[in-house]
Amino acid sequence: MTLSFAGSKVLITGASSGIGQELADLLLERGAHVALVARRIATIESWAAPRRAARPQQVIWSGAADVTVAEQVFQVVEQATAALGGLDVAILNAGIAGGGMLGCGQYPLHEQVIRTNVLGALASTEAVMAHFRSRNQGHVVLVSSVAAFRGLPGSAVYSASKAAVSTLAQGLRAEVWGTPIRVTVLHPGYIDTPINQNLTWRPFLVSARQGAAAILYRLEHGAGWATVPRWPWALVPCMVRLLPTAVMARMSRRRMA
Ligand SMILES: NC(=O)c1ccc[n+]([C@@H]2O[C@H](COP(=O)([O-])OP(=O)(O)OC[C@H]3O[C@@H](n4cnc5c(N)ncnc54)[C@H](OP(=O)(O)O)[C@@H]3O)[C@@H](O)[C@H]2O)c1
Repeated sequence: MTLSFAGSKVLITGASSGIGQELADLLLERGAHVALVARRIATIESWAAPRRAARPQQVIWSGAADVTVAEQVFQVVEQATAALGGLDVAILNAGIAGGGMLGCGQYPLHEQVIRTNVLGALASTEAVMAHFRSRNQGHVVLVSSVAAFRGLPGSAVYSASKAAVSTLAQGLRAEVWGTPIRVTVLHPGYIDTPINQNLTWRPFLVSARQGAAAILYRLEHGAGWATVPRWPWALVPCMVRLLPTAVMARMSRRRMA
């Protein structure tokens, strides 16, 4: 199965940077209309301005929202849907990492990771699903992480937040099974963006462009669940579950060194 994004109306959260920004670029190249959402609206706007001039036939809409504030999320989804004249695909990608080890005085950061990655994903999913259910059509894409497969030392809160995203997507997928509504959950490995540029060890790193291209490839081929890039990350769910905690601890020390 190969799906086409040409003419599709696509909302992307976390579109001011990294994977979201690259996805927006590639979707425009494929002829999609895009609604771009993040807090840094000025950053989106300076990125969008030359593209609007180059592609007058495509909608490039931007809206500011903090995904931790549910009212803002519901409002921006409504505005984006009106600006696009409908909504076909929602890529819920906004996320943060950080905070480090538990019990080291970083509770506010840990709380922000949970608020952004879990409550932000929940509010965004609720908002777009209300629209998709009313039309009995649409595609929700949730961006999780390979960190969801096992709690990583130094990133336990991030891992927990992404495990919640993956589980949310899994449940939602079963809820809409047999209907025209589709759900995809993506598990990126290391993609070179500001979220991880402070790490010294980023195995199998790919550029943001390569990561976004791999995501679109998986979406165009109808994936419901995917690691990105597929290899070697598709081996990780089995491997990390089998590895002893001592080995995980050593690997993670290297990652944070
Ligand atoms: N890069 C990787 O290796 C990797 C691996 C696994 C999973 N991921 C996931 O991929 C997604 C995109 O990350 P990235 O790598 O592209 O990182 P990034 O370049 O730091 O981008 C993160 C995006 O999320 C937005 N965001 C953060 N907090 C937000 C909030 N409260 N409200 C609205 N938007 C918010 C940011 O926009 P503003 O700051 O302008 O709001 C930004 O556009 C994240 O969910 C991340 O967990 C990335």
